[in-house]
Amino acid sequence: MKVNVSIVGASGYTGGELLRLLLFHPDVEVKQVTSESYTGKFVYKIHPNLRKSTALKFVSANELEPCDLLFLCLPHNSSQNKIDEYKKLAPKIIDLSADFRLKDLNEYEKWYGHKHARPELLNEFVYGIPELHREEMKKANFISSAGCNATASILGLYPLYKNGIVELDRTVIEVKVGSSEGGNKVNEGSHHPERAGVVRSYQPTQHRHTAEMLQEMSFGKQIQIHFSATAIDMVRGLLATCHVFLKEDLHEKEIWKIYRDAYANEPFIRIVKESDGIYRFPEPKLLSGTNFCDIGFKKDEFSNRLVVISAIDNLMKGAAGQALQAFNIMYGLNERTGLNFPGLHPI
Ligand SMILES: NC(=O)c1ccc[n+]([C@@H]2O[C@H](COP(=O)([O-])OP(=O)(O)OC[C@H]3O[C@@H](n4cnc5c(N)ncnc54)[C@H](OP(=O)(O)O)[C@@H]3O)[C@@H](O)[C@H]2O)c1
Repeated sequence: MKVNVSIVGASGYTGGELLRLLLFHPDVEVKQVTSESYTGKFVYKIHPNLRKSTALKFVSANELEPCDLLFLCLPHNSSQNKIDEYKKLAPKIIDLSADFRLKDLNEYEKWYGHKHARPELLNEFVYGIPELHREEMKKANFISSAGCNATASILGLYPLYKNGIVELDRTVIEVKVGSSEGGNKVNEGSHHPERAGVVRSYQPTQHRHTAEMLQEMSFGKQIQIHFSATAIDMVRGLLATCHVFLKEDLHEKEIWKIYRDAYANEPFIRIVKESDGIYRFPEPKLLSGTNFCDIGFKKDEFSNRLVVISAIDNLMKGAAGQALQAFNIMYGLNERTGLNFPGLHPI
């Protein structure tokens, strides 16, 4: 029997991507998709790539009927205010927003600058990176999908922190992101003459995703992560360049082994480190529409610095793809179901 799902906030970019994936998932029936701005309109009017793939029309969230699982693709600070209504509609929820990612209420208030509407629920949600929380996901009813910058950064660095081989206070991460990370609402900065061609440092410090990185990589220790984000001229994709400092002078072969041990059996992580060619390190362009996270590294010969390079499609492994991967785990399905697309080349 198919799992009946509905998507709340389906007119947005992550909701649209989820719908694209779910419509072709053999074990899923998409029941309803919501939009307040486009209620009554055919889905393909907003997501023209889905023309002839579905006859669904958007409904208002007020018209939602009970289903097996709800995907919430809403702006920050929306899910938490209506979570009790959503829980009445579905026994399982996957939320793509940041509302339930942090476990520590103080950290939430510090990074998000406001009170949480349902702090008691923070611990009911499993943090949504399958490579870190697969076993919890198998039993979970509520999953909070991880932030896109956090996903690329954490997957790139997690094995190093877990093995305790890096200095704990000197990690510097610079992420370059495409415009779709900001969602589909227009603003002054997204106006084409202003956005096209930019290399715009939009969050040099205090990016909220830093809190997720600290939560997932501290292992009970005091750590510091220095994170900056730059908007570049790209629609999809995200490249994290992470500078860490090794405690000991490890050889690259030993670092390979650490990554191999961590990720050899992971279906969506690929280690990309070639000695020649133009694709020696991860490149987001090749990941468009895929659920892969490509990770590469290079040790500085003259210092103890290790540069880890991690790339994803922000709307896929950074959002909809990762949410579907978590869904597959929740329902005991093959994790790759609906996500087997290898990407395009050239693109
Ligand atoms: N974009 C990314 O790369 C990315 C990656 C990871 C996580 N996320 C997170 O995923 C969530 C969705 O992001 P997105 O990029 O898809 O945003 P988006 O393109 O702006 O879409 C937001 C959706 O929410 C609906 N909506 C807006 N306000 C609402 C409200 N008050 N009540 C109900 N529905 C409302 C909008 O539709 P209507 O106006 O038609 O109702 C739209 O369908 C955000 O929390 C974001 O932080 C985004």
